[in-house]
Amino acid sequence: MILVTGGAGYIGSHVVLSLREMGHEVVVLDDLSRGHEDLIFSPNFVQCDIRDREAVGSAFARFPIEAVLHFAARSLVGESMREPEVYYDVNVNGTLSLLSVMRDRGVNALVFSSSAAVYGEPERTPISEEDELRPTNVYGETKLFIESMLRRYHEAYGLNSVSLRYFNAAGADPEGRSGEDHDPETHLIPLVLDVALGRRKEIAIFGTDYPTPDGSCIRDYIHVTDLASAHVLALKSLIQGKARCSAYNLGNGMGYSVKDVIDVARRVTSKPIPASAGPRRPGDPAVLVASSDRAQKDLGWRRAHPELEEIVATAWEWHRRRFSR
Ligand code: UFG
Repeated sequence: MILVTGGAGYIGSHVVLSLREMGHEVVVLDDLSRGHEDLIFSPNFVQCDIRDREAVGSAFARFPIEAVLHFAARSLVGESMREPEVYYDVNVNGTLSLLSVMRDRGVNALVFSSSAAVYGEPERTPISEEDELRPTNVYGETKLFIESMLRRYHEAYGLNSVSLRYFNAAGADPEGRSGEDHDPETHLIPLVLDVALGRRKEIAIFGTDYPTPDGSCIRDYIHVTDLASAHVLALKSLIQGKARCSAYNLGNGMGYSVKDVIDVARRVTSKPIPASAGPRRPGDPAVLVASSDRAQKDLGWRRAHPELEEIVATAWEWHRRRFSR
């Protein structure tokens, strides 16, 4: 059985769907502070905080857990700068507590939800796993620190792990079962779709004076279902004893600007989507694009939904059904 912490969240819930499609039995552990009850796609559910060692320990006692996929975390860059203590506590302490329970129980396989935020301001494009790790915010720091913990746990205790560094997770389950639902929402695509639905008046473009072809920031949007398939492959490689302690970028390898995203959303939704030029958001690098060659080579990962059009279309289907009044 596979334990998925944060399994009621955006990425976690898609991974639960993929794991079950591949025949795995899953236990979802989530405190539902950010996750959603209707996005729990497993009959086995434990509601608890990742820092609650006793409750997490009882989940391990109750279910025959062989491996863990760990998503439970705070994940907003801006919030992490305002409330660093919460991020160190939930992300770092929460993971430490989980690792300690795993060690007690002799479970030594973990897939960890890391982030492109570990790189900070990139020195070149596309970013490869060999590049400098210099996070520029607390959120990225906590992810990098956990990656270091996993390396030390591997050396000292034989824990095997795969850290997956996501670029911009986007889109929704093509069958409409799950999608993005954050409160507050801060991510570009759902905000743009909110404008299309009439829930917001316009989208502000954060900076139009970047050194990019159209002046807006470029990001690497990767379909959440493609992220999910990478987790299933990472788990497989851990179960087969191939993965020991590795980190992989997960991106599309193609960059799209904020203006590209808005244009695609206008086409997909057939709505005008008013946009206005606003100031830069502090801490935003101009371009973040991944090389995912290593994940393709080592894990055999292939992206099934690389087109931005399809990413936005699946998000729109979800968004419309979930948020239309
Ligand atoms: N943007 C706007 N207007 C908005 C919201 C966003 O122009 O109203 C722009 C941002 O400036 C950025 C792009 O849209 O250029 C994407 O922004 P998101 O907030 O959707 O995503 P980020 O690239 O900031 O964040 C992503 C992940 C984080 C991760 C980070 C790494 O969501 O988890 O990349 O830097 F930490």
